[in-house]
Amino acid sequence: LASIDVDLAPVQEGQAITVTWRGKPVFVRHRTAKEIEEARTVNLGELRDPAADDARVKKPEWLIVVGICTHLGCVPLGQKPTDPRGDYDGWFCPCHGSHYDTAGRIRKGPAPANLVVPQYAFTSDTAVRLG
Ligand code: FES
Repeated sequence: LASIDVDLAPVQEGQAITVTWRGKPVFVRHRTAKEIEEARTVNLGELRDPAADDARVKKPEWLIVVGICTHLGCVPLGQKPTDPRGDYDGWFCPCHGSHYDTAGRIRKGPAPANLVVPQYAFTSDTAVRLG
């Protein structure tokens, strides 16, 4: 229960999956080149909770974050293709309107902090172990 293995092979570029880890939703997004570029080219001085993209990922194409808004704990939208993703192409929390970017960083709205990056490690090119 402490650790789970996630198979990334079926997750195509541009797709995302949600897995449950320690009772929490974890968002796994296979980022596109455009999403990676957006995450990397932000001026860190503009960020409420400054963090470079490469400090939040182990491989640029995979973003893995706990899917719980850091405001009051709602689950942000943005995992399904039809979901709103907010003004920064990441996630939008419908509870009070927080916008997260393609690195899961808070960009707008009341949330005080970035989506949390859980502890994880790649166990192969297409598999990751959470916890
Ligand atoms: Fe997400 Fe309030 S819980 S904006």
